Amino acid sequence: MSKTYTNHPLTDIYLKCVRSHKEPYCADVFGKEIIVYPNVMSPRYDRSSRFHILNMPDQKGKSVLEIGCGCGVIGLFAAFQKAKKITAVDINAYALENTKENFKKFNIKNVKVFYSDLFSNVKETFDTITFALPYYGTEPKDILEHGISDHNYKTLRRLMKESPQYLRKNGQVILGFSDWSDTELLDELIEENNYKLIDRREETANGWTAYLYILEMKKYGMDLDPRRLELLTSWMQTRRSTN
Ligand SMILES: C[S@@+](CC[C@H](N)C(=O)[O-])C[C@H]1O[C@@H](n2cnc3c(N)ncnc32)[C@H](O)[C@@H]1O
Repeated sequence: MSKTYTNHPLTDIYLKCVRSHKEPYCADVFGKEIIVYPNVMSPRYDRSSRFHILNMPDQKGKSVLEIGCGCGVIGLFAAFQKAKKITAVDINAYALENTKENFKKFNIKNVKVFYSDLFSNVKETFDTITFALPYYGTEPKDILEHGISDHNYKTLRRLMKESPQYLRKNGQVILGFSDWSDTELLDELIEENNYKLIDRREETANGWTAYLYILEMKKYGMDLDPRRLELLTSWMQTRRSTN
């Protein structure tokens, strides 16, 4: 039976604040004036992205994929940490334009910004895949609400299944989540998809807790990751059936 999900009571106030903007405006994030477009998730009214940035391992020299870039703030701070290359994707067209403008404003050159539903248009592999996830399993009503709601966590389930194919050896998947999210489901998905939890950082304030999950793939003897194991098993089965 599927679970019934709800939003944190403060979410309506957050959405009202974001929806009150009809023109681009600024949010101060650690002393940087980040531009935020209407219809885009806003670090002015929420502490999640600051928490994510503060707790993310140093991205110096890394090739980073930010899924769900919003206004681009997490990718931007990865670039400030001297990440080698940033790829930022979102399903919200306003977010993509917004991210491009912020990268331009801060003169960040080593970037690609494009539409992608998770990995649908992604062709490379990365040292880091990061996603400040929509927190709730509720149904989004418009494109802005895709920033807070992931209906029955279908996107999260896909993300956990597909990420390993886009991760380089020793790469990390870094996920923002909260105590209002289905953390039990995330724990199950970590186990099911052969991730190893390296760290779960947390911060409690204003009646809710933000989490940052830092994951790597489990290491297998003789370097047998699950995909290779699957290929090897099916090859052996073919051999058996030919005899
Ligand atoms: C919680 S917001 C984070 C925004 C930004 N990273 C920040 O920290 O302010 C989640 C973002 O994920 C995007 N998103 C939701 N589902 C997505 C999907 N399937 N593929 C790509 N982006 C998605 C939303 O449009 C939203 O911009």
